[in-house]
Amino acid sequence: MRKIDFYDTTLRDGEQSPGVNLNTAEKLEIAKQLERLGMDVIEAGFPAASPGDLDAVRKIASTIKNSSVTALARCVKSDIDAAWEALKVAECPRIHIFLATSDIHMKYKLKQTPEQVVNTAVEMIKYAKSLFPVVQWSAEDAFRSDRAFLAHIVEQAINAGASIINIPDTVGYATPKEYGELFKYLKENVPNINQVKLSAHCHDDLGMAVANTLAAIENGADQVEGTINGIGERAGNVALEEVAVALYTRKDFYNIQSNLTLNEIKRSSQLVSQLTGMVIQPNKAVVGKNAFAHESGIHQDGVLKEPTTYEIITPELIGEASNNLVLGKHSGRHAFQDRAKLMGFDLDQEALNNAFKEFKKLADRKKEITTEDLWTILTNQQLKD
Ligand code: KIV
Ligand code: ZN
Repeated sequence: MRKIDFYDTTLRDGEQSPGVNLNTAEKLEIAKQLERLGMDVIEAGFPAASPGDLDAVRKIASTIKNSSVTALARCVKSDIDAAWEALKVAECPRIHIFLATSDIHMKYKLKQTPEQVVNTAVEMIKYAKSLFPVVQWSAEDAFRSDRAFLAHIVEQAINAGASIINIPDTVGYATPKEYGELFKYLKENVPNINQVKLSAHCHDDLGMAVANTLAAIENGADQVEGTINGIGERAGNVALEEVAVALYTRKDFYNIQSNLTLNEIKRSSQLVSQLTGMVIQPNKAVVGKNAFAHESGIHQDGVLKEPTTYEIITPELIGEASNNLVLGKHSGRHAFQDRAKLMGFDLDQEALNNAFKEFKKLADRKKEITTEDLWTILTNQQLKD
């Protein structure tokens, strides 16, 4: 089975969602959860953007041990220096630098000729490589770039020392067939392409990010980038939990494996939603409140007779407690503690007592406590813990 690396950018591209602003403690909490989920790479921020971002990336890099921690930089020396400042404490410092390659971006945004863009990329990759053992380079707006030019600059980027090449669909314009073909084209037309990993990075402007990411995998991508719950600029990035569950559920078709621990998905999703304030739509695939709910009589009857009639994934797969015992004001500490454990929370006695008190207060006001209420209470305690 081929293995795909999962690269999470919730803390960078995800934080670029309008209205989202995470502090260092919140970022650290999310990074720890992403590590538990088994992310291969965590993009922790953009250190040149602000001293706060630099500080958060540094803290994450010195805490996280089982995922590789990286950060974003433009092809600018001071950005690379800021990233080094933040990441030098990491076990294996890794940087992600990017430069736009589409005609539109080169002409209007960068105001550079294609030749100047190649020179800048090569020079900055070499500089980054003098500091970092691992350099990832992104051709921003790769999908809308001239293919022959893209192949040329990718070849030069590899010669300059990049070991991961990212091919973003920055504005979510690609269709699955075209995005897959672009990976195939690069595999066939860049002579040194087999020296590097190819990465897919899809935005969801036309609702095709998951399909595009899967098409890239089918055509040779070794790494997929995205966010939890698909948060990110505009319509967001690809939702990594959807890609992971699609690969798992259709392993008969894809034959792909990853390092992810799928039963940490629900918890990751709830944490990101709570800390960013971005509500998950009820019918969202995999993590929506209704993802496992059956409303029609025919469906309910079918599921009671045999769950696979209408369920292709189980709540347990993603760590959703299927236990339907209702918690309310008459529930005891034991039931509460059991449910917290089932949801994956490992709180100390004091935090658990505080959470139980919060739960009782809420139960006095509300007839039935929902799973969402419990996530909020328990996550708040965990943050204080
Ligand atoms: O969407 C994009 O092109 C990006 C780059 C910075 C990689 O997020
Ligand atoms: Zn992006």
